[in-house]
Amino acid sequence: MCGIFGCILKEENAAPVIHAALKRLEYRGYDSVGEATLHNGQLFIKKDQGKIDEVHKIHNLDDLPGNIGIGHTRWATHGAPLQVNAHPHVDCTGQIAVVHNGIIENFAELKQELENRGHEFKSKTDTEVIAHLIERALEANPSLGLADAVLDTVKKLEGSYAIAVISAKEPDKVVCARHESPLVVGVNENAVYFASDLPAVLPLTNKAVIVDDGELVILTLGQYQIKKIADSSLVSREPKLIDWAPEMAVKQGYPHFMLKEIHEQPECLRNTLRLQEHYLDLMATFLDRAREVYLVACGTSYHACLAASYMLSKLAFLPTYPVIASEFIEQHGKSVNIDSTILAVSQSGETTDTLASVQVARQRAATVLGLTNAIGSTLTRVSRVYIGQQSGPEIGVAATKTFTSQLSVMAQVALRLAKKRGKVSQDEMDYLAERLNKMPDTVDTIVRTQEEKMKQVAKKYKDAKIFFFLGRGISTATAYEGRLKLMEIAYVPAIAFPAGESKHGPISLVEPGFPVVFVCPKDETRKTLIGNIMEMKARGASIIAVMEEGDEEIKRLADDYVEVPKGIPDVLSPISYVIPLQLFAYYMAVERGFNPDTPRNLAKSVTVK
Ligand code: AGP
Repeated sequence: MCGIFGCILKEENAAPVIHAALKRLEYRGYDSVGEATLHNGQLFIKKDQGKIDEVHKIHNLDDLPGNIGIGHTRWATHGAPLQVNAHPHVDCTGQIAVVHNGIIENFAELKQELENRGHEFKSKTDTEVIAHLIERALEANPSLGLADAVLDTVKKLEGSYAIAVISAKEPDKVVCARHESPLVVGVNENAVYFASDLPAVLPLTNKAVIVDDGELVILTLGQYQIKKIADSSLVSREPKLIDWAPEMAVKQGYPHFMLKEIHEQPECLRNTLRLQEHYLDLMATFLDRAREVYLVACGTSYHACLAASYMLSKLAFLPTYPVIASEFIEQHGKSVNIDSTILAVSQSGETTDTLASVQVARQRAATVLGLTNAIGSTLTRVSRVYIGQQSGPEIGVAATKTFTSQLSVMAQVALRLAKKRGKVSQDEMDYLAERLNKMPDTVDTIVRTQEEKMKQVAKKYKDAKIFFFLGRGISTATAYEGRLKLMEIAYVPAIAFPAGESKHGPISLVEPGFPVVFVCPKDETRKTLIGNIMEMKARGASIIAVMEEGDEEIKRLADDYVEVPKGIPDVLSPISYVIPLQLFAYYMAVERGFNPDTPRNLAKSVTVK
């Protein structure tokens, strides 16, 4: 998730306006930034790695000539956050500049084709192919204009994109196009703007046009023309008046980043399904060869490790040790060795306890693998192989979208390992892969259909003093994560444990009205879990069930329930069954008057031991 912005202004220079707008988009990505402007038929570019203020100090991002320009603030997915990978990217002639937000899935084969035709690439990004494809289109047919060359190019792209293109040969226009990634146009009497979303344009104009999927937009001074990419037919759409305060706009109308990020999970999950196969296979190969595997992380990332340990063992028959990072050195520091493999999971890639574990493991010659959301983070630099999960920046301290994305990545790795080891039939592989591909829509359905329900349940239990979160099998990880979310943002004490443990102690706490959240997908654990529900009910507990749609038996036992669509395989169930628990914690925090985005005593990335 990156931020793009650009404009054509009547009088003033574009650069200062672009710089200021990129600052407003910095929450979308902040590991490198760049701008390109056109002046007197020449292209001017400034770009570098680092936060906008740091790059501005060195390069002065306000100091580029020309009233027309494009800009980009980056969240790396392909290619480390280095100057060469910062946007804008240009073609061989240096006359065409492109900024892009999204992921081009087929960039490798397009790049190969272009290199075979003599094109030279400077960066490791997927985006650079777009500039060269436009150059190629214009070479092949010089009578083609920039807009048609862009049209021709985007038809070759697979994946998600919002792009903007300028060319020194046609210095009066910006051509944009969109497929899945967001794009808006803003207009006023002296200018026309485009941006990844409204926060960037709102301080400049409140007249905006939302660009739909599969549309191309040609911007010239004070004007915009929309065309359908499929058939070049013209689309007429009047600007809407937007009356959002800038603060609201950054949250895209959501009251908090956490709720926005919960709603972003379908898009993030789609991004995880666009990862480069090569790295997923490589990680599966290293796990296949490993003598022993430790899954090491903290907090929510540890819960992803716990779920992953079920996936790897049940699908690929690979037993693993999920370990809380702050305990790794004490517990395994002396035994980890050259035959050990550590898979460290950290959305920030900077959590000290996780990095300390990795360091000890490396000192003892163990193999280190990484899963992170931050390309360029320390974890990526110390890992033999790492996967960037492409969730985009997560502003809310409480991890939500990064958790479900971690699970989706681990499920893909486990499936590849299972295939490599021939542990699951092709039919089962196809079934699981099909369910995983459907997961973004499944999660979208849950968020849309169950949010109000969770809001009511939170309202009902807002004064509860304590909660249990229980599950069996892989749902134990879901229960732990639900518990953590509630504690960290609503400050309600909560205990989670495998439901089978109830009778070995915790049940003594239960008295009439004691709220117990059960995570109950329809899997092999269901029969015994119903027994655990009965145990709690017999002591007067209030049962809140996260259950499969239409599960009448659980519905009869529950005081409150929320439904998740049918047919989700147990090894994938945490991705969907955690969503109602994220919403529950969010609305509990709101009901209790707390700001879910900035919980007390916590920071987004914990860099202290
Ligand atoms: C989760 O909501 C918390 N923010 C926290 O537990 C977090 O998961 C933990 O600090 C690990 O962070 P990481 O994934 O960046 O390493």
